[in-house]
Amino acid sequence: MDFIELGKTGEKIPELGMGTWKIGAEPEKSLEALETGISLGMKFIDTAEMYGTEEIVGKAIKGNEIFVATKVSPHHFRHDDVIKACEASLERLDVKQIDLYQLHWPNKSVPVTETMRAMEELVKSGKVRHIGVSNFSIEELRDAQLCMKSSRIVSNQIEYSILDRDPENGMLEFCRKEGVTVIAYSPLAQGALYKRKNAKILGLLESIGKRHKKTPTQVALNFLLSSGVAAIPKASSKEHVTENAGAVGWRLTEAERSEVSSFLGGTGKGLQHGS
Ligand SMILES: NC(=O)c1ccc[n+]([C@@H]2O[C@H](COP(=O)([O-])OP(=O)(O)OC[C@H]3O[C@@H](n4cnc5c(N)ncnc54)[C@H](OP(=O)(O)O)[C@@H]3O)[C@@H](O)[C@H]2O)c1
Repeated sequence: MDFIELGKTGEKIPELGMGTWKIGAEPEKSLEALETGISLGMKFIDTAEMYGTEEIVGKAIKGNEIFVATKVSPHHFRHDDVIKACEASLERLDVKQIDLYQLHWPNKSVPVTETMRAMEELVKSGKVRHIGVSNFSIEELRDAQLCMKSSRIVSNQIEYSILDRDPENGMLEFCRKEGVTVIAYSPLAQGALYKRKNAKILGLLESIGKRHKKTPTQVALNFLLSSGVAAIPKASSKEHVTENAGAVGWRLTEAERSEVSSFLGGTGKGLQHGS
């Protein structure tokens, strides 16, 4: 596994983790998939109170040293609600401390100062190690950071895939300069990559992949990782997890990255994302 620094903490986390949104329809299969990923070094698992998957994550991480990230939902952004939501997540995950606690989406109806005060208290009390955000714009990230007295926002979890390259319009650069780790969610465009209408893109990924003995999925994920971000694909089977794990340990060349970029054009907006 290759690693990426978390914010400016000096701590390294696996650059490829596992998402868990919508896993669990078949609990045993999902657990097996997570355990397979862990055995392959994907020791970074992302969940959220909203997903209903914290308990299954708790089972998968038992006895393993895993970097666990979860999220507080926007309707819990009042001070006391943040504290209660965190305590409930700790219980469901069956851990004493959350490695990365993220604000799931911005919520303009609650003053961000109040939310960040609660997040800092969670760090002080030892219930949370690091504070992250998700779906925050540059301005929202700056505002949230300014509210904090002693902690830094270490990460912003945002949508980023070869079908949605919007983060390349400033967010990646901002985060790189500020020392905020970008965590790419929906890195396989929620499966849209495999739709027939994206066959030409898959064809290109396949031809590049052949040079490295890699699959189109592995090339798509490697494209993100080589932009200096972490990624958290979700996979429900051990076969998919195993394939995803093969996105790590090698790099596309700059020429290949340019080949993909120029084929996709712009930032991927207008490409065939969706069902
Ligand atoms: N912060 C946020 O607001 C937010 C929003 C969305 C997602 N997320 C996080 O990001 C994670 C990943 O995003 P996502 O779940 O939206 O979508 P994703 O990871 O882009 O795509 C998941 C889809 O890709 C398929 N897949 C995975 N590996 C594959 C492989 N090797 N070959 C073929 N298909 C494969 C999965 O199928 P199978 O399930 O059949 O394996 C599933 O249909 C989530 O689980 C969640 O943790 C965060």
